[in-house]
Amino acid sequence: MLVAAILEIRNLSIWFRTEGGESPVVHDLTFSLAEGEVLGIVGESGSGKSVTALAILGLLDRAARVEGSIRFARDELLGLRPEMIRAYRGQKIAMIFQEPMTALNPVMTVGEQIAEALRTHNAKLARREVRRQVLEAMEAVAIAEPSVRYGDYPHQFSGGQRQRILIAMAIISHPRLLIADEPTTALDVTVQAQILELLRDLRSRFGLSMIFISHDLAVVQSIADRVLVMRRGYLLEEGSRAQIFGETAHPYTQSLLGAVPTLRTDRALPLATLATALDDASGQIVECGPGHRVRQHPVP
Ligand SMILES: Nc1ncnc2c1ncn2[C@@H]1O[C@H](COP(=O)(O)OP(=O)(O)O)[C@@H](O)[C@H]1O
Ligand SMILES: [Mg+2]
Repeated sequence: MLVAAILEIRNLSIWFRTEGGESPVVHDLTFSLAEGEVLGIVGESGSGKSVTALAILGLLDRAARVEGSIRFARDELLGLRPEMIRAYRGQKIAMIFQEPMTALNPVMTVGEQIAEALRTHNAKLARREVRRQVLEAMEAVAIAEPSVRYGDYPHQFSGGQRQRILIAMAIISHPRLLIADEPTTALDVTVQAQILELLRDLRSRFGLSMIFISHDLAVVQSIADRVLVMRRGYLLEEGSRAQIFGETAHPYTQSLLGAVPTLRTDRALPLATLATALDDASGQIVECGPGHRVRQHPVP
C-alpha cells in the first residue's frame, strides 16, 4: 500500500467478565485505516462496533479484557497506562458519540465547553487565544454568529446544532483520527444529511482520517471509502465502497442492502432463513478480490 496506515488493528478480541465467566464480544478482528481514509463500520446493534471504538481510545471499563494489537501511527496503544493513553485521546484521536444532548453539560455555555476541550491539552493558552480558536472551530462547523452563540447554553440549540458543537469540541485540537459512533442516528433525516455533509467537508479541509460507525449501510455508503461489515463480534466482509455495494460477497451484507440478490450469492436462499442459516464463526476469512475480504459461510 502506498499510503501509510494511521491505525492498524491486529487480532483484536474483547471479552466482558461476567458472574459466570467471560463472554466474548469481539473475535479476532483485523483491519487498518490509511491516512486520510474514511472507514465505515456497519452492523446491527450488538455487533461490537462501539466496544471496538472504545478499545481504540482505551475507554473500556475494567470488566473488559482486550487482546491483540492497536497501533496508532506505529505506537502500540493496547496496554498503555491510563495517563499515557490520555495523551492520544482528544488530541490525536477524537470521538463523537450518538447523543448530542447527554454529551453536553446543560449548565455550561457551549463556548466554555469547547474551550475546556481545548484547554485539556493546552493548559497554558492565553484566554484571548482560547476564545479565538473556539470561535474558529464554531465557524468550521457552520454555527452562525459564533461570537453571539458562544455564551448560549445547550438547550438554546437544536439537536443538529448540538451535534455540530460536539464536532467542534472533537476537532479543536486538530486530531488526526476522528471516530464518529452513530453521529447522526438521533437526528432526523434532513439534519442527518447536513451533518454528513459537514463531516465530508471537514475531512477534505483538514485531511482527517475517520472511522464512521453506523447500523445503517446507506449512511455509510454516503461517506466511507472502505467498509467493514460486522455481526455478533465477527468481521463478515471488508471491501471498498464499490466492492461492498457492487460486488457484495456475504449474504448478511446483502440483507443489509435490502435483500437485493447479487450474482455472487445464492438467489434461492430465502431471506427469512438467512439469519438462522448464518453461523458467523464457522468460516475462515478469504480474499475474493483485491482488498476485498469475506468470511466464508456455509451454503445451505
Ligand atoms: N460494559 C459492558 N459490559 C458488558 N457487556 C457489554 C458492555 N458494553 C457492551 N457490551 C456487550 O458487547 C456487545 C457489543 O456491544 P456494542 O459494541 O455496544 O455493539 P454495537 O455498538 O455494535 O451496537 C453487546 O453484546 C453488548 O451487550
Ligand atoms: Mg454502538
